[in-house]
Amino acid sequence: MPRPFPHRHLLGIEQLSRDDILQILDEAEPWIGFGRGRRKQDQRLAGLTQFNVFFENSTRTLFSFEVAGKRLGAQVANFHAIGSSVQKGESLIDTALTLDAMRPDVMVIRHSETGAPHQVAEVVGCPVVNAGDGTGEHPTQALLDALTMRRRKGRIEGLRVAICGDIRHSRVAGSNMKLLPKLGAALRLVGPPALLPDDTGGIPAFTNLDEGIEGADVVMMLRIQRERMEASVSGSLQDFHARYGLTRARLERSAAPDAIVMHPGPMNRGVEIDGELADDPERSAILEQVETGVAVRMAVLDLLTRDRR
Ligand code: NCD
Repeated sequence: MPRPFPHRHLLGIEQLSRDDILQILDEAEPWIGFGRGRRKQDQRLAGLTQFNVFFENSTRTLFSFEVAGKRLGAQVANFHAIGSSVQKGESLIDTALTLDAMRPDVMVIRHSETGAPHQVAEVVGCPVVNAGDGTGEHPTQALLDALTMRRRKGRIEGLRVAICGDIRHSRVAGSNMKLLPKLGAALRLVGPPALLPDDTGGIPAFTNLDEGIEGADVVMMLRIQRERMEASVSGSLQDFHARYGLTRARLERSAAPDAIVMHPGPMNRGVEIDGELADDPERSAILEQVETGVAVRMAVLDLLTRDRR
């Protein structure tokens, strides 16, 4: 008998216990081998309808949820706000109620407003998965990051992880800052003062990249999220690269000898990370993150729909 999952929705990492997180990672693990096989068709979500409701652009996340749902046999329908009645002024709740009236069994939501998936979860009749809300959370990203680290490093407990770049505007950082301490990793934040959060929740913060990544086992780079920033904050990109861009020389000078590099994407080569380093399969786990992402989303979709089958 599969173990029941004690949550109706996946809205953030906050609500998850260490055991809940480990359950998701453990259930995701076998889907990686499954994805490498020739025929990738499971039927456990057969007959269920999954709506991917994206009010914001996405490459990886939308496609990953679509692939995950299809590999489990779900009927997947994607709703794009661009070109919809959202542009005619329909409210988030009215859009959600309209979609809910089509009786989906799970809704995956991305929205530029923090808390939007939580609002939708209040009014719809099915589980809701947060696929990124404003500067809030992106729980499946933090889960796939954790699974990638565990697979590369064999553990998460005691790992030294430096998250670098635009932390303030990053929901990826937001979710990782909640998840990694729950699994016993030692976190550090690194970035220019204007891009560090006001409240780091006790996590040590550094404004110097070399100091911040010293001894790190994992260096996670983040994009500058210009779309979430007042113009005043962003200086020149060359200047940012000189101070905060990760190069091989910097990594090898300061981080642990076997440190790995991660990035949730989309990356800006030559800004926060050098392309040459990002392309090195020994050092970079960036494409592995994409692979574990499908597996984590399969586990999440499976767990949240168990009582509907
Ligand atoms: C991130 C996001 O949308 O929050 N991308 C992703 O989902 N992999 C990070 C970003 O946009 O920079």
